[in-house]
Amino acid sequence: MDNKVPNHVAIIMDGNGRWAQKRGLKRTKGHQKGAQTLKKISEYIYDKNIKVLSVFAFSTENWKRDKEEVDYLMKLFIKAFKENFETVKKKGVKVVFSGVEDKLSDKVLNTMKKMSEETKNNTNGIFNVCLNYGGQDEIVEATKKISSKVKNGELNIEEIDASTFNKYLFNDLPPIDLLIRTSGEYRISNFMLWQMAYAELYFTDVLWPDFSPEDMDKALDSYNERDRRFGAIKNK
Ligand code: IPE
Ligand code: IPE
Ligand code: MG
Repeated sequence: MDNKVPNHVAIIMDGNGRWAQKRGLKRTKGHQKGAQTLKKISEYIYDKNIKVLSVFAFSTENWKRDKEEVDYLMKLFIKAFKENFETVKKKGVKVVFSGVEDKLSDKVLNTMKKMSEETKNNTNGIFNVCLNYGGQDEIVEATKKISSKVKNGELNIEEIDASTFNKYLFNDLPPIDLLIRTSGEYRISNFMLWQMAYAELYFTDVLWPDFSPEDMDKALDSYNERDRRFGAIKNK
């Protein structure tokens, strides 16, 4: 069988807290280990010739957590971005962020800006970090931008189709081919709703800090066995 490599993989990196609790550690330790996992897995993914990787780092709903955990996560993002900067540049990957600026500190925002600015001409791949992100918000924001263009006479209603709509999202990304969620939860939690219209879904009980390249291979093997029909009938 041909080895099909997905173009766009998206990951809901879940289970950091439970990983730590199981070991009698603070939840923040799970986030720390989770960041190391992301470094390893992202390198593995780009080495496999997967072009686009999206990850859910922080949802707009995650502000509901204790201040201590949220503060820790914000510091961790800055640290992780800095630590991964050289790798990203070496691999020639463009870093983009999806989400809203609201409530993020200047320190976090400046690090994000620096990363996207300095990698914007890279063409080997895309690393889309969903931070302070909600899927419904993304669709609502795009609708607002489109409506104001229509109102100003800059866009005709007839011109609006799925590919036009895509351009008004936080980033104009290709559709998700494979969505992975770790930690045994079978839900989407408001992640990339628009982009996952025809994504193949893969759920695993493995907690994100434990997710290994071998687990990634299992997800890719499963993807390979899928029969993607996009609504058509396949001639076999
Ligand atoms: C995912 O792990 C990371 C973030 C949401 C930032 P969790 O922190 O949700 O871990 P669990 O689900 O509580 O185990
Ligand atoms: C989704 O995980 C968000 C991230 C992985 C950043 P959550 O742990 O926040 O999702 P729920 O609460 O289980 O739906
Ligand atoms: Mg969780």
